[in-house]
Amino acid sequence: MKTTISKLHSYKNSKKITMITAYDALFAKIFDNEVDTILVGDSLNMSFFGENDTLTATLEQMIYHTKAVCNGAKNAYIIADMPFGSYSTPNKGLESAIKIFKETKADAVKLEGGEEKAEVIKLLTDNGVAVVGHIGLMPQSSRSEGGYKVKGKNEKSINKVLKDAKAVEEAGAVMLVVEGVIEDVTKKITEMLTIPVIGIGAGRYTDGQVLVWSDMLGFFDEFKPKFVKRYLNGATITKEAVKNYVKEVENGQFPTQKEIY
Ligand code: KIV
Repeated sequence: MKTTISKLHSYKNSKKITMITAYDALFAKIFDNEVDTILVGDSLNMSFFGENDTLTATLEQMIYHTKAVCNGAKNAYIIADMPFGSYSTPNKGLESAIKIFKETKADAVKLEGGEEKAEVIKLLTDNGVAVVGHIGLMPQSSRSEGGYKVKGKNEKSINKVLKDAKAVEEAGAVMLVVEGVIEDVTKKITEMLTIPVIGIGAGRYTDGQVLVWSDMLGFFDEFKPKFVKRYLNGATITKEAVKNYVKEVENGQFPTQKEIY
């Protein structure tokens, strides 16, 4: 059965919400029915496209991958990330979000930013686009901030994150992703807001968790951020399987009688 936003809201304080990223129909189909929600994250620009950050992802890229995910997942609540630069003004944000909603079957869009993006969130919400907020460590700011910096480590940063969370909810966001924030601060945010708070590198006390699929399944094995838990050694077992295939082709063990017409 299709997961709706009201179902996700009903989980607050009763059941943890599970979210994973997906970028294509194949994996979306595997994840569908296992998780509550799938995020077509702009992290695809790094893990799928091989870039160093998310900033060069385009709206066209996000729409293409969201369409693929929607083709594969019929039940999960699907969220499409808005790429860097596609919501730099409220009107630009509305135009981009409408394009995503018209061309894909995404249930919501996600955008990075707190107080400074409240106007964009409100305009999208007022025009029938469900918005998921994203505060704390915001990967689209990694170039301007000179890296990926954990938030909530001092009073100024704590106050900023708390204010951002409040502003995003008041602007009408249906859910909030909090990334790279000290656990105590995220706990406060989760208790303070009525919308579900989904954490990534934000501790144990959120309403749910999200991980990037290639990190949690070990297909990206160059480094492992502290907050990631690997549930599979995807890269290792895939390399092993490909090595076996190569060996069997080279020594004539594949194909056998069973695999020929
Ligand atoms: O792009 C993405 O995958 C994300 C998650 C890290 C939350 O925004």
